[in-house]
Amino acid sequence: MYFKDKTILASDITPRDVFENRRSLIKTAAAGGFGMALAPWFSRQALASNPEKLAATLNTAYSSKDEPTPYKYVTSYNNFYEFGTDKSDPAAHANTLQTRPWTVSIEGLVKKPLTLDIDALLKLAPIEERIYRLRCVEGWSMVIPWDGYSLSKLIGKVEPLGSAKYVEFISLADRKQMPGVSSNILDWPYREGLRMDEAMNPLTLLTLGLYGEVLPKQNGAPVRIVVPWKYGFKSAKSIVKIRFTEEMPKTSWSQFDSREYGFYSNVNPQVDHPRWSQATERRIGDPKGMFASKIKTQMFNGYADQVASMYAGMDLKKYY
Ligand code: MTE
Repeated sequence: MYFKDKTILASDITPRDVFENRRSLIKTAAAGGFGMALAPWFSRQALASNPEKLAATLNTAYSSKDEPTPYKYVTSYNNFYEFGTDKSDPAAHANTLQTRPWTVSIEGLVKKPLTLDIDALLKLAPIEERIYRLRCVEGWSMVIPWDGYSLSKLIGKVEPLGSAKYVEFISLADRKQMPGVSSNILDWPYREGLRMDEAMNPLTLLTLGLYGEVLPKQNGAPVRIVVPWKYGFKSAKSIVKIRFTEEMPKTSWSQFDSREYGFYSNVNPQVDHPRWSQATERRIGDPKGMFASKIKTQMFNGYADQVASMYAGMDLKKYY
């Protein structure tokens, strides 16, 4: 990861007209104090005329009050090495990705292995919208309205065995669709993993969309994981396999350099990456651009109340 970090100029990108509207509606919904609200940008009419829309209900209890990063940045400043290492490569090249038909097989140490196609995944549980912070180890962050449901709902269907201690996520690696897979930057397929309790934590989102639409290809269509208290690379895109294991899975980034990328990779401002400080972050899309003041990075990316207890007693410098 992480060879280049190009900043996008606002003038490089087409503006997204509906964004301002959406923002004020989120604020209204959040101020209302109710746990769930219809995601502001969803309308039945839109759903009928555009099959790419998702009917998502805003989960205000799990949503950040930070201002969402404009859609244009969320979808044009990406890391998806299967399509190249530049931040602009995924938006430029991911159009070759075939997202239908698509199946995800859920296998390994489970009582009921399953293979589900994308329509079955879309119907498995009500789709919620959650506005999560995403903190990248490179030092930038975004705030993204993701659409999906807790991964635990899918895990419940396959009934993991007592011996299952970890969950591995495996992304598609197809040279025909993904030009970056022909390079040897990473050991393909892209692989990530979580400990079982992390995978079951309700914050871990099986993600099918963003901003009330099915996932754009550059963001990991048609299905990815989002783990908001961990650095962005833990959130594997375009997954085809979820495997339950007894051993800690080998992940692509820890194989790339285990000193730089540990298995846990919890956002932690006190433990620096060998090349980058993790104390502060730069919000992508801040109108002040490079002159925007840096934000202090929060422990567990601000999700300590929901996740810190999973790491009680662990030396987080050792288990980075
Ligand atoms: N998943 C796959 N399959 N390939 C990747 O290169 N990059 C990761 C993660 N998931 C990556 C991936 C990194 S480094 C980040 S920061 C996030 O995706 C970026 O997600 P976004 O582009 O949707 O913001």
